[in-house]
Amino acid sequence: MFSRAIVRAPSTSIAQGLTSANLGSVDYARACKQHQNYVDTLKQLGLEVIELPAINTFADAVFVEDVALVTPDFAVLTLPGAPTRQGEVEHMRPTIESIFDVVEYISAPGTLEAGDVMLADKHFYIGLSDRTNQAGADQLIEIVSRYGYSGSVVDMSEMLHLKTGVNFLDDNRYLVTGEFVDHPAFSEFDCIEVAQDEAYAANSLYINGTVLVPAGYTKTLKQIQALGYTTIEVDTSEFRKIDGGLSCLSLRF
Ligand code: GLY
Repeated sequence: MFSRAIVRAPSTSIAQGLTSANLGSVDYARACKQHQNYVDTLKQLGLEVIELPAINTFADAVFVEDVALVTPDFAVLTLPGAPTRQGEVEHMRPTIESIFDVVEYISAPGTLEAGDVMLADKHFYIGLSDRTNQAGADQLIEIVSRYGYSGSVVDMSEMLHLKTGVNFLDDNRYLVTGEFVDHPAFSEFDCIEVAQDEAYAANSLYINGTVLVPAGYTKTLKQIQALGYTTIEVDTSEFRKIDGGLSCLSLRF
């Protein structure tokens, strides 16, 4: 169960965020409105939300999930593979160090963005993406093994982050799309395939029995509801324009 979340307000420079999407420019005011709605939704689910101020010099800083990994036992400050995002970590450091008794660090030559890290029970799946390299994954596996967790790497070649295309719900159940459909790393699990034309909705977010689903992905919404989950649609259209989704917008613990 999650009881807290950390979020950061969108930067005024958010329209300069890294992107491979071709969906137009982010509307800052609309992004702020969508972010506030996201925060309200987390609160509605009973989470205490720690709201950090915008860092206007870092366009992607709203995506706090990439710069830290948080668990009930420890936290890890990462080293993003995107050079323009590495400075975000120092801004997150005081918050993480004030909340967690045990804080670990990823260091060069390792790079790791926690959007590439998915926890299922006590095992971390770590995507080897353009942002997370083998050295970063090896460091994380060594760290988590000291706290009773395990980890393994997942080969990938198409998506930005691991959680762009695969997300753990519960009960051994995963939402998968694209290159993660039939991926050997997840062959033992109950994989729910998200249609290619709704691939963005594979980044739906399970929180304490409820699944947040990005607004506008009707087929995926119905699939998740058919599994018995309560769902809440959350509009993230501005964040999608810079390759961000529901999980990227918070750290949950
Ligand atoms: N725009 C989010 C990222 O590329 O990290």
